[in-house]
Amino acid sequence: EQIEKGGYEHFMLKEIFEQTSSIHDTIRGRVSPQNKEVFLGGINDVIPKLVNARRILIIGCGTSWHAGMVGEYLFEEFARIPVEVEYASEFRYRNPVIFEDDIVLAISQSGETADTLAAIKLAKEAGATVLGICNVVGSSIPRETDAGVYTHAGPEIGVASTKAFTAQVTVLTMMAMLVGYRKGTLEKEEYHKLIEEFSHLPEKIAKILEKDQDIKELSKRYIESTNALYLGRGFLFPVALEGALKLKEISYIHAEGYPAAEMKHGPIALIDEHMPVFVAATKDKSYEKIVSNIQEVKARKGHVIAIVTEGDTVIADMADYVIEIPETLEALAPLLTVVPFQLISYYIAVLRGCNVDQPRNLAKSVTVE
Ligand code: G6P
Repeated sequence: EQIEKGGYEHFMLKEIFEQTSSIHDTIRGRVSPQNKEVFLGGINDVIPKLVNARRILIIGCGTSWHAGMVGEYLFEEFARIPVEVEYASEFRYRNPVIFEDDIVLAISQSGETADTLAAIKLAKEAGATVLGICNVVGSSIPRETDAGVYTHAGPEIGVASTKAFTAQVTVLTMMAMLVGYRKGTLEKEEYHKLIEEFSHLPEKIAKILEKDQDIKELSKRYIESTNALYLGRGFLFPVALEGALKLKEISYIHAEGYPAAEMKHGPIALIDEHMPVFVAATKDKSYEKIVSNIQEVKARKGHVIAIVTEGDTVIADMADYVIEIPETLEALAPLLTVVPFQLISYYIAVLRGCNVDQPRNLAKSVTVE
């Protein structure tokens, strides 16, 4: 097992660090900066269906559901297709409305999650086209779906999903870009800018990982916390959800992810000097708004730890701690901002003495409903 961990103390840390190469593996052969094209062989035949889709239903559980949430923003932004993101367990039991021309996109790391599999069967019975985004080659979900794209993140052993999430978001981004470009809703110039930026993601993730020891130091301050709040807006709202899930899964600290502007409808009541508030606050079109949200937290003595774009001095002056990450395009920001959140959860959990690779009560693959 020590050999498998490749010198890392835990699989989770190894998998967080593998994201420089796993993202590369996910895009390899699919995104070509030379030809400035995205090519997804597994779904090539269904691209016309996607281009003409009236609606996409994205289905998943846990972290895969969070990736699906990012997918919603991506497909709406690039391809102007309405998207609904569904928890597989809710979808399958509530007599959902499924049209024959719906595209159902099932996301699953393991490819074995019982609820997701059952939701797929339901969608197939209703005559929808069912696509999969899975990591484990030859698992049940890829066998049940009409077509799909493998994430190629490599085996993920840690129960808390890390590199599989970034691989899922990478595939969703490629799909949404491709469909949007073919449909004409994503301008050629923008499409090419995204393709170019894709090739820089691995080196940008590597730069974030260089801050590993700083993040470990920072994490020490929060090992006694009992609650934490995670905030984000737009593309970074699902990242806030994922950040909170990571923390609760492995450290057993209660954490909630919220769209930053919703804070005033409830969670703001919880904020006091004991509450760490982790904010994904990189420069994008809602930057000014997230700055106001940070001020609201500070006014109530909350402790703000913000993920910001390199060189941001405005938030640095306000927050208790900032983690700078390299600049990227707004739609690609989830792939970078999630990495510091993964590390924070990892270190808080390790410092609390938790079994990060096998947290209590959780399983890597949930094959029962
Ligand atoms: C379990 C795992 C999570 C995972 C979820 C969905 O809860 O612990 O890490 O996100 O199942 O699994 P899937 O394999 O379908 O992505």
